[in-house]
Amino acid sequence: MIALPMIIGGQKVYKEEKIDVIYPYTLEKVGEVPKGSPEDVEKAIEKAKTGLKRLKELSSYEKYKILMKVAQLLEERKEEFAKTVVYEVGKTIREARTEVERCINTIIFSAEEAKRIEGEYVYVDASPNGKGKKGFYFREPAGIVSAITPFNFPLNLTAHKIAPSIAAGCPFILKPSERTPLSPIMLCELFLEAGVPEEAVSVIPGYADVGQAMTTHPDVRVVSFTGSLKVGEIIAKQAGLKKIVMELGSNSAVVVDRDANLELAAKKSVLGGFALAGQVCISVQRVLVHEDVADRFQKLLKEEVSKLKFGDPMDENTDVGPVIAVDEVNRIQSWIKEAVEKGAKIETGGVSCAEEKTVFQPTVVVDVPEESKLFYEEAFAPVVTVKRFRSIDEALELVNRSNYGLQVGVFTNNIKNAWKFIQDAEVGGVIINDIPTFRADNMPYGGVKGSGIGREGPKFAIDDYTEIKMVIFDLNA
Ligand code: SIN
Repeated sequence: MIALPMIIGGQKVYKEEKIDVIYPYTLEKVGEVPKGSPEDVEKAIEKAKTGLKRLKELSSYEKYKILMKVAQLLEERKEEFAKTVVYEVGKTIREARTEVERCINTIIFSAEEAKRIEGEYVYVDASPNGKGKKGFYFREPAGIVSAITPFNFPLNLTAHKIAPSIAAGCPFILKPSERTPLSPIMLCELFLEAGVPEEAVSVIPGYADVGQAMTTHPDVRVVSFTGSLKVGEIIAKQAGLKKIVMELGSNSAVVVDRDANLELAAKKSVLGGFALAGQVCISVQRVLVHEDVADRFQKLLKEEVSKLKFGDPMDENTDVGPVIAVDEVNRIQSWIKEAVEKGAKIETGGVSCAEEKTVFQPTVVVDVPEESKLFYEEAFAPVVTVKRFRSIDEALELVNRSNYGLQVGVFTNNIKNAWKFIQDAEVGGVIINDIPTFRADNMPYGGVKGSGIGREGPKFAIDDYTEIKMVIFDLNA
């Protein structure tokens, strides 16, 4: 069992009241952390004010060195972090190792960006009132950052918020998902060990009251949230005048055109649909396939799914682990039932495993009507739906007829069809000849509509964590 403290301004804090961390596979308790409160947030914000001053004393090079040190410390403890991620999320050990590798890279990208925060000379005399004046701008830290992270990538999505925050010179207060607080706290301990000023680092595990305090406090300048659309909307309403960055999920689509490489599209769709038991914001949820090739594609898809091994996440051969909680199994079962009642057919899967309560069989549901939740909501489960289209315009319309707009994948060899999606898909990213489930940690990542506001990726996060300050010299004076 792992028992960890919360961290307020770099200090370890223990409390009577605890949050239990449950291993989703066996439903056993594997850890505990203190339950934070709004008062803890208040204390962390007071500390962060000093943290901001101390970070301002560091040069860009010093921030680079500290973040590189974090990456090195994580590299030395990779397997321990990977196992912790398995125990709190239930993702497979292979997926957890990939997450740790990605996290190291995210921190290195952030370190490198610390050296690239730049300003610009502005020829203000191009304006009629600028004669004799000289102008330039630079970027300074925006202030205290509140970071709220989800359960699915507890380590890397935390790194995506806190590493750019330090690179930009901003202290942070982190609320990890109450289900997966262990690896985020361990990561913050590495930040402290590497030399981040202690007042700049706070991690407060907790529930909605902690989140509310963090997102409404007038001294917080930036809120960076990854989670559900429902919570995102609440934060947007209550945050007031702050910078807000949100990544809110999707019901991502992949389009399989009539001339696509069907073997590749089927293999990749299975990878993207069932990685992390479908609990990724860019999971393949809706496969839209041209009617001319739909029968062949569905057969290939079924074959690929039948190769998946599901169950024990610690087994090196497992491809699909459990979902995060039993409630989720019940929810997804009810969504499948609703789709079937409206005319959909279960091609494979559709049930949980009797012994392993949170392991849901990789499921493919075909001919899913648009008005079923499985099609229009975010499923966040090991379920892929398939729908046929007659023309590429119809496919584009189906992609866009969604509340969400994170990423879309398009398998096609027709350059005009590819371009149609690049130009007209209402999403933050178009992936040609691959699935929407592609993310490189340095690219701008985020969506439009219900998928969020702003972009992550260290370079882009730093834009959000900094403010431009304009300077004018009047040489007429
Ligand atoms: C997410 O679920 O939005 C994160 C996806 C990723 O980082 O791969």
